[in-house]
Amino acid sequence: MSKDNFHSNDFSSSIGFIIACVGSAVGLGNLWKFPYITYENGGGAFVLVYLLSIMLVGLPLLLSEIMIGKSGKQNVYATFKTLSNNNQFWKIVGGLALLTSFVILSYYSVVAGWTLEYFISSLGSNLKVFTSETIGDHFSSFVGNGSKQVIFHTIFMFLTGAIVYLGTQGIEKAVKVLMPLLFLFVVIIMAISLSNYGFSDSFNFLFHFDFSKLKASSILEALGHAFFTLSLGMGVMIIYGSYLPKNVNIIRASLYIMFFDTLMAIMACFMIYPIIFGTGLKMNESSSMLFTALTVQFNALPMGEYISALFYLLVAFAALTSTISLLEPIVSFISEEFKINRKKATLLSALFVWAFGILSALSNGANELLTKVSFFDKADHLASNWGLTLGGICVSIFVGYKLSSKTHLQELKIEKKSLFYSYFLTCVKFITPVFILLIILTKIGVF
Ligand code: PHE
Repeated sequence: MSKDNFHSNDFSSSIGFIIACVGSAVGLGNLWKFPYITYENGGGAFVLVYLLSIMLVGLPLLLSEIMIGKSGKQNVYATFKTLSNNNQFWKIVGGLALLTSFVILSYYSVVAGWTLEYFISSLGSNLKVFTSETIGDHFSSFVGNGSKQVIFHTIFMFLTGAIVYLGTQGIEKAVKVLMPLLFLFVVIIMAISLSNYGFSDSFNFLFHFDFSKLKASSILEALGHAFFTLSLGMGVMIIYGSYLPKNVNIIRASLYIMFFDTLMAIMACFMIYPIIFGTGLKMNESSSMLFTALTVQFNALPMGEYISALFYLLVAFAALTSTISLLEPIVSFISEEFKINRKKATLLSALFVWAFGILSALSNGANELLTKVSFFDKADHLASNWGLTLGGICVSIFVGYKLSSKTHLQELKIEKKSLFYSYFLTCVKFITPVFILLIILTKIGVF
C-alpha cells in the first residue's frame, strides 16, 4: 500500500492551515508565560528583545519545519529518514521529536483538565467562597485528588482524540470554530479588565523601553520562549506542513502565524496586567497562579463567576487547539509506520498518551511515590527544556546544511538573490543554531 493511504489529507485551504498552526501556537505560553516573563524582565525592552528573537529564531525555524514537512509529505520520522537518505542520526532526531510531543501532551492534558474543572466550578459559583488566603489550599487539595485528576485528564484526552480521529478535516473544522471564539473571549476579558482597572499602567509598562533593566538572562529567556510559543522543535509544524496544500506561499503563511501568535501574547498582557497592577498582586513564576490568585480577582469583579468561567473556557480552548497538534504527529507515525488505519492509530495513540499522563495526574499529591519523585515536573523539565531545544537546533542544522538550496528556493518560492533568502539562510545556518546552543549551554550551567 502506498503511504498516501495512511497519510492524512491536506488541509482544504491555506487559511485552514494557518488557523490550525495559530491554534497550536497560541496556548499557555501566550496567555500566561509571556505576560509573566515580560513582567519579570521589566517590560518594554524585553518585548523588543522578544520580537527580535522571534525574527531570528522563531520565524526561520517555523519556515524550516514547514519546509521539511512539505518536502517530506510523511510522518515526522519517515520524513527525516527519507530526506536524509536513511541516515541513522536523522532518524533518531525524528524519533526524539515524536517522543517530545508524546511527553508534553501527556502532562499538558492534565493541566488542560484543570481548566475544565475550574470552568465548571466557576459556573456553579463554587469558587466564589475562596479568598486569597484559602484558594491555595483549595488548589492543592484539587490537584491532590487522584480521581478528579484522572477524570479531567481523561475528558481532555477524549476531546483531543475525538477531533484528531476525524483527520485533517476534523482538526480544521475544530480550529475554525475554536480560534475565533478564543479571540473573542480574549477581547471581552481584556475589555472588562481594562475598564475596571485602567489602561495606562499596563501600556506604560509594556511600551516603555528601559534597557537598563535588561539582563543577559532576559535575552536567553526571550529566545527560549520564541520557539516554545511557536510550537517548534517537536515535529508539530513539520506534520502540519506535510498536510499543506500545493501552491501555498509558506513565507506569507509563516508571517501570519507569527503575527497572530504575537498579537495574542500582547493582548494577554492587556488582559492580565490591569488586574495585576490594579490590585497590587505579585505575579509568580508558577502557572498555578492562574488557578489561585487570578481566580480570586476574577471573582471579585461584578458578575465575576461568569468572567471566571469565560476565562477558563478560553484557556481550555487554547489548550485543546494545542493538544490536537501534539497528538497528530504521534497518530501519523503509528498509522504510517505500523500500517494501521488512521482511526485505529488515533485510538491507540490517545490511549498510550492517556495512560502515561496518569503518572503526571497522580504526581501532585495523589500518589506518594509519584509525588516524591515529582514526576510531573520531571516530565515537563525533560521535554520542554531538553526535547524542544535539541529538536530546534537539529531542525535548523538539517535545513541549513542538509537540504539543498534548490529545495529551499523551490519551497519558499523565491529567488536566490532575494534579500529574504539571504536572511533565511544566514539564520538557519548560523544565527539560529548559535542562539539555541547558547540556551543549551546556559541550561547546563556553562554561563
Ligand atoms: N505553543 C504553545 C504555547 O505557546 C505550546 C505548545 C508547544 C503547544 C508545542 C504545542 C506544541 O503555549
